[in-house]
Amino acid sequence: MRIDKLAVIGAGTMGHGIAQVFAQAGLQVALTDSNAKVRGSALARIEGNLDACLGRSVTDRNGALAVLERITVTPDLDEAVSAVDLVFEAVFEDLELKRQVLREIEAHCAPQVILISSTSGYRVRDLAVALDHPERFLALHFWNPPYVVPVVEVMPGAHTLPEVVDATFALLQKAGKVPALVRKDVPGYVGNRLQHALRREAIALVAEGVASPEDVDTITRLSFGLRMPVVGPLETVDLAGLDLTQAIQTYLLPDLDRSTAPKQLVRDKVGRGELGVKTGEGFYEWPPGRAARVIRRRDEALLEMVEWLRGHDLLGAPSGQAEAPVEEPRHNE
Ligand SMILES: NC(=O)c1ccc[n+]([C@@H]2O[C@H](COP(=O)([O-])OP(=O)(O)OC[C@H]3O[C@@H](n4cnc5c(N)ncnc54)[C@H](O)[C@@H]3O)[C@@H](O)[C@H]2O)c1
Repeated sequence: MRIDKLAVIGAGTMGHGIAQVFAQAGLQVALTDSNAKVRGSALARIEGNLDACLGRSVTDRNGALAVLERITVTPDLDEAVSAVDLVFEAVFEDLELKRQVLREIEAHCAPQVILISSTSGYRVRDLAVALDHPERFLALHFWNPPYVVPVVEVMPGAHTLPEVVDATFALLQKAGKVPALVRKDVPGYVGNRLQHALRREAIALVAEGVASPEDVDTITRLSFGLRMPVVGPLETVDLAGLDLTQAIQTYLLPDLDRSTAPKQLVRDKVGRGELGVKTGEGFYEWPPGRAARVIRRRDEALLEMVEWLRGHDLLGAPSGQAEAPVEEPRHNE
């Protein structure tokens, strides 16, 4: 299945970045959004991202210009999806809206056009019910910012054709991404299940007064968080020993938070309008300008880290597998 042209529906946080990823891979991209302001700022946001990539995934200003020229922003969904090989929906995380947009896309596309949802974790079967041709549909979970973060979770549904999955893998690899297959249609796939298990405990620790939000974040960032780009959690289990993991989990697991609903602390904050950056207060105070500084620092650090990982052949399988044996060190938690 040849993919030369694609469309992205929704040009928000993820949509504009996803459009950029594939334009950087040489594809023609049509981008649309129902919000005129979002459409109007899309190319400038992509240009800003490309500036950050100069000297890395984008060689120079001419390269950046060529990427921008491959992206067409249009107000009409039907125009965006006409004559493309693949369509991404990247609209709000709202199941009914996503179903409605998928139906609309399908109404304007030939049955062989691949359809992709960029959901954070709705089950594929819950989205595919909207389609007459679920065999060309799957979900791809990109991570923010999509033009920086290498991994993309690939979640086929029960009806997805193997050639659709293969073509999607090939497309992601062409775009320099690291596709990872999710084998069961579970909500949240792999990444968000892990991330929200961590957030549940982080919020519980603050709610119970065990540590401040600042200390929870510092402990996470500067301890196991620091080593995660190089050594994953299961590789760490092996390094430390399954016997040690068993010993710790025997006394610790019964004490971890097992809430099946958002904590009262979160519900209270939402009730008071303390939503985080968008209202100026959440777990932290967010005076004007602070979020932009944090995001810029995050993206610069991530771009450098990805370069480092690429240089050390670590954008793929766990570390050390292809290397010559060295003397075994002792390793603990
Ligand atoms: N933000 C993240 O960190 C992140 C990470 C991974 C996945 N996702 C997922 O990506 C998807 C998009 O999230 P986002 O963060 O980019 O949201 P966003 O709010 O930044 O952007 C969504 C865009 O969709 C547009 N839209 C809504 N209805 C539309 C319609 N009918 N037609 C065309 N455009 C429409 C909105 O105007 C908006 O600009 C969601 O499913 C989300 O769960 C988000």
